[in-house]
Amino acid sequence: MDYLEGVDTRGVAPTPQAVIALNALRGPLPPGPTSAEAVLHLLDTYGSPATVAKNNGRFFGFVNGGCLPAALAAGWLVSAWDQNAAFFVQSPTAITLEEIALEWVRDLLALPAGTGGAVVTGATMANFSALAAARHALCARAGWDVEADGLVGAPPITVVVGEEAHASVFKALSLLGLGRKRVVRVPVDGQGRMKADALPHLDDRTILCLQAGNVNTGAFDPGAAICPAARAAGAWIHVDGAFGLWAAVSPEYRKWTKGFEQADSWATDAHKWPNIGYDCGIALVREPAHLRAAMSMQASYLALGDHREPSDYNPELSRRARGVELWAGLRSLGRSGMAEIVERTSGHARRFAAGLKAAGFQILNDVVINQVLVSFGSPEQTLATIARLQAEGTCWCGSTIWQGQTAMRISVSSWATTQEDVDRSLAAMIKAAQG
Ligand SMILES: Cc1ncc(COP(=O)(O)O)c(C=O)c1O
Repeated sequence: MDYLEGVDTRGVAPTPQAVIALNALRGPLPPGPTSAEAVLHLLDTYGSPATVAKNNGRFFGFVNGGCLPAALAAGWLVSAWDQNAAFFVQSPTAITLEEIALEWVRDLLALPAGTGGAVVTGATMANFSALAAARHALCARAGWDVEADGLVGAPPITVVVGEEAHASVFKALSLLGLGRKRVVRVPVDGQGRMKADALPHLDDRTILCLQAGNVNTGAFDPGAAICPAARAAGAWIHVDGAFGLWAAVSPEYRKWTKGFEQADSWATDAHKWPNIGYDCGIALVREPAHLRAAMSMQASYLALGDHREPSDYNPELSRRARGVELWAGLRSLGRSGMAEIVERTSGHARRFAAGLKAAGFQILNDVVINQVLVSFGSPEQTLATIARLQAEGTCWCGSTIWQGQTAMRISVSSWATTQEDVDRSLAAMIKAAQG
């Protein structure tokens, strides 16, 4: 509680001194025990000051939310319960809450009835899991058992991605033996959206990876223009919607997600826009049997009942009961609370863009949801502004290179960000740009 209460009055980034002081935690493991109180005291004395303050509403780096109070406290309970969420017999509570939460997510994202999935560590693993289901389905169609026989000698699969697909899609493809480079890349426009008229031939041996929410611009691939024909061609459509898919909850923003409901699989994160806290990714598959075929394992000691077992749908066996935090966070928000986060943070993004534009700086993207890209002049000027901003501490933003232009990224993803936070941060950004 001390930590959370103090988080608003300190700089967002830790001071260099606080980072150096972490060295006090190094050294050989003591030969004997230390009391739990003393261990916690060490953590709070040296660990807390060197954290990045994520819960004060002024961290705009990457696409990181905060942690909703209900999810945070549920996390404490999850640790106290010490449940292993692999099998129902190990934790009826964890498995039941995970099932309920997955159904809530399916409903919030307006995905087809019957869609099932897994609560994994993040969108990287969600992409991996969903694409493992795709790999299974396409190989099975061609009469090949990829789980048993691997990919050596398998019928070829073509993977189609947009030029601005997220790096985690390529990582997932490499882990699955489908290759980072062995993809067909579709050209994109200035916002990073796939050009629908530039798609290659698609058939039932193709995995088409679309994106709902580009990590830099927030832009969406045109799902409504692409999905019907891709589906008719028999391609497996996968959507990486790590944060953008949540726009489906808002009546104002759901236009961007149109068409994605026709996909076969989706990857998203509850630790991004829903603010559930780390780690909480979600893989969803229209026909969950494909995910099960890709993920289940057998061993004689794993004697199970009739219940749906998370381990059948998950890359992991033993795992934290992260579905409990998902349940708690979503229960606290309700549908309207989730929509409100999407709408409020996107409104904040527009306020940032308008304020920076009025101060004479160039906004590089169409601000369609919660992402803003701003240039403060030359690459050197932009990078120097970011360095001064991070050191000053009011807020935190990172850098990127968007289609050749160096930019500062502002991702407004936290439930805690207020208009006052935006205005304070805007003032700090303009001051940092002035040197
Ligand atoms: C579009 C997209 N996909 C995937 C990821 C990876 O998510 P995670 O860090 O949860 O693995 C991100 C992260 O920002 C993202 O924006």
